[in-house]
Amino acid sequence: MKEYLLKDALKNGYAVGAFNFANLEVLKSIIASAELTKSPVIAQMSESAISFIGEEYLKQIIIAARKQCKVPISFHLDHGKSLDSVKKAIEVGCDSVMFDGSMLPFEDNIAITKSVVDYAHERGVYVEAELGSLAGIEDDVNVDESKSFYTDPIQAKEFVEKTGVDSLAIAIGTKHGAYKFGGEAKLRFDILEEIEKLLPNTPLVLHGASGVDEKAVDKLLELGVNIKGAKGVADNLLAEASKKHICKINGDTDLRIALLIGILHNIEENNKNIDYRKYLTEGMAEITKLCANKMNLYGSSNKAN
Ligand code: G3H
Ligand code: 13P
Ligand code: ZN
Repeated sequence: MKEYLLKDALKNGYAVGAFNFANLEVLKSIIASAELTKSPVIAQMSESAISFIGEEYLKQIIIAARKQCKVPISFHLDHGKSLDSVKKAIEVGCDSVMFDGSMLPFEDNIAITKSVVDYAHERGVYVEAELGSLAGIEDDVNVDESKSFYTDPIQAKEFVEKTGVDSLAIAIGTKHGAYKFGGEAKLRFDILEEIEKLLPNTPLVLHGASGVDEKAVDKLLELGVNIKGAKGVADNLLAEASKKHICKINGDTDLRIALLIGILHNIEENNKNIDYRKYLTEGMAEITKLCANKMNLYGSSNKAN
């Protein structure tokens, strides 16, 4: 089996940024940030991103990206909801897959995750699973805030032992999407620490970790896009999490915001331009800058060896 990127992250106390893409431009921007910071990186696709790109196109894009990329890159299925979707992701070339059975009853989550682990491991592919729920929008699943719950550390240990997963996504207060916190942003580091004690060899994963920078929200408003009231996870919380056993930090919303700012800013400055390469180039540069800052924050810079 190919070396698992999260193994080195766990050993050396940093987190690998896992960034979502649904087109070539975003993937190239992510790769550029990893090369700039000499960082390992995970490029991940949701089920809907895979259908948006198309499986055959994606397969070739992954082959080309692996050839081009000068740092360790891993392709990952984000929030796979069935064994079929896992099979499809392995077929397009993913090195690891997430099976997200977090909405299922505990025993059902164990049973299906175990079947995914058996299937994936036989093919040299690593598996991430999720226990506990994040409120917000997860790839076509809207988790009601009242139904969201933190990961129970005792259940986490039982889950990992019974399924044999390689990493576990836990719920400690983050949320998918742009609107994560009404009031002060807080993460339950006490729960994280209990899980770490019970599962010292398991890399943990933080979903819903976009920062949703206040200045970016203001900039978007100036450019005509209103996401007032959006609030993400503060940088200091992410830096702290990455020094603990959080070894993979997921981000999608921040990249969407960065791309949009770059495109709209370019159009505002050059309102006679109709060449999409020009505004996409500025959007891509915004993503690269954003992801490179995150790699520095998560401590993965200069860890590409
Ligand atoms: O966690 C979910 C990701 O942000 C994927 O979203 O299904 O719109 O690609 P998507
Ligand atoms: P954000 O919505 O915070 O970017 O989270 C994305 C994510 O967790 C993808 O799995
Ligand atoms: Zn997620």
